[in-house]
Amino acid sequence: MIESCDPHVRYTQDGSVFVLQMHRPEKKNALTQTMYRALAEGVRYADANETVNVILIRGTNDCFTSGNDVNDFVAATDRGTERPSVQYMKAISHARKPLVAAVNGLAVGIGTTMLLHCDLVYAAEDSWLHLPFTRLGLCPEAGSSYLTPALMGHQRAAELLLLGERFTAAKAREYGMINEVLPTGNVLAHAMQKARDLAALPSEAVQTSKHLLKRAQQGVIDETISLELVNFARLLHSPDAQAIMQAFLNRKRG
Ligand code: COA
Repeated sequence: MIESCDPHVRYTQDGSVFVLQMHRPEKKNALTQTMYRALAEGVRYADANETVNVILIRGTNDCFTSGNDVNDFVAATDRGTERPSVQYMKAISHARKPLVAAVNGLAVGIGTTMLLHCDLVYAAEDSWLHLPFTRLGLCPEAGSSYLTPALMGHQRAAELLLLGERFTAAKAREYGMINEVLPTGNVLAHAMQKARDLAALPSEAVQTSKHLLKRAQQGVIDETISLELVNFARLLHSPDAQAIMQAFLNRKRG
């Protein structure tokens, strides 16, 4: 087992299920660049390691993640394709092994868009999701501008990505983003059981089947991620986006 490069991302292994945990509860598991690096390294390690058959992604007991750390958006330094956040998007979109997600509490921004790359998603009945990009002066990322309309149709995708209102796990299930909504407290155990069930199946058959399911979309997802990044970087420097981020960071001091 490799060591995580960031204490806010934890690696554990349960049989042949590799568990990747976002653990920064004091900041609602907001993701910094080193956390993304640890997440990307974890996915790549698990994908290549022959003792692992399934990767499970989780947050803490009451929060999946509040998304990208807003301080990082304000700093707006290098937005190149080698950034750890981009590496993480690529790692999950290219993973050969199945990804299972257990969602408790809130899943904001990449907390929701990463679910579009997972194969099985389980969420608590009181959890909520949010794609707030336009409200932040930004545009979709992680391939979500392609994956959401492909999954649920244009009008539903526009509702989530243009209006940018938070939505319940029940709505996410209705729109096809989530497999099952579960009583709070049961989510992790249920997701873990499904991960174990999947891990017990012949791994070559599961991985080949996953490849076949995703094959037609892979090229367009890569292309979409690249195009989104160019637009995201441009919008991030806009006065609108910078003012909204600063207002969030200053809200309690003001
Ligand atoms: N980036 C940086 N810090 C964040 C954060 C984020 N994405 N999300 C939460 N935090 C911090 C808060 O600033 C606060 O820090 P403080 O205690 O030092 O003031 C702490 O985490 C707890 O968050 P708080 O806002 O008090 O919790 P809440 O339950 O009232 O609200 C959210 C939770 C997620 C609704 C709210 O924090 C939020 O809107 N966060 C920003 C989400 C966002 O825009 N993400 C980017 C998506 S692209």
